[in-house]
Amino acid sequence: MDRQTLSALAHADHPIAAPLSEASVAEVLDRALRPDAHVLDLGCGEGAWLLRALEVRPDVTAVGVDLSDKGFGRTRAAAARSGAADRLDLVVADATQYRGDRPADVVLSVGSAHAFGGLLPTLAAARTHLADTGTVVIGDGFWEREPGPDLRAEIEAPDQPYADLAGTIAAVSADGWTPVYGHVSTIEEWDDYEFSWTGSLARWALDHPDDPDAKHALEASAEHRDMWLGYRGVLGFVTLVLRRTG
Ligand SMILES: C[S@@+](CC[C@H](N)C(=O)[O-])C[C@H]1O[C@@H](n2cnc3c(N)ncnc32)[C@H](O)[C@@H]1O
Repeated sequence: MDRQTLSALAHADHPIAAPLSEASVAEVLDRALRPDAHVLDLGCGEGAWLLRALEVRPDVTAVGVDLSDKGFGRTRAAAARSGAADRLDLVVADATQYRGDRPADVVLSVGSAHAFGGLLPTLAAARTHLADTGTVVIGDGFWEREPGPDLRAEIEAPDQPYADLAGTIAAVSADGWTPVYGHVSTIEEWDDYEFSWTGSLARWALDHPDDPDAKHALEASAEHRDMWLGYRGVLGFVTLVLRRTG
């Protein structure tokens, strides 16, 4: 089973591919969106953030960019059901290379900072797409508690270390951004996300015992569950709504 199919199964019950509840996503979007906003999502996954933005704001237009189109069909169908299909464009492309044809009032990038080389490079990329008074919504990991060396090595890319929350916000501020809102994922949001991830994948495997991918899917679910139980309460996730300071 390829990684994208596995990820699509793992997100069947929790389309937002990050540890935020539907209420938290709605709150973050409410703080970021303005009337007639054009929204660009870099590393949009199946486009779940954009779908929610379009559903609550009939004046918003949205473009999502992801390497994979897994889940695009489901999101386009949902957008069509809510009458938002003509306001949504989902593009298969490398977000680090993508060039839009208009500035975005809101640039989203949640859980995709690894693609750009970390938090600050993601903000630099977002800035190239951002309208002058635009807003960035960025979600990334941080250390809720100091990890042991093994966990740090397992979670962090060597050139993309996480800070603690204060260090994360200090780095963003020093880079010329001001948080105008933020959401720190709660342990309940983490548990719901991770049990949904591992649970929907395991359920698919148990429902399809004769599928050649079933064994691999069950193993991947157990492996992810073990990893999560190792970082549970240590790895945090913060979603920041940012404006340029100057
Ligand atoms: C953890 S998911 C987050 C998805 C979405 N932002 C959400 O919160 O639901 C990370 C996404 O980044 C995408 N991705 C990774 N590298 C990328 C790249 N270079 N260009 C575009 N998308 C990329 C992956 O395909 C995946 O869908």
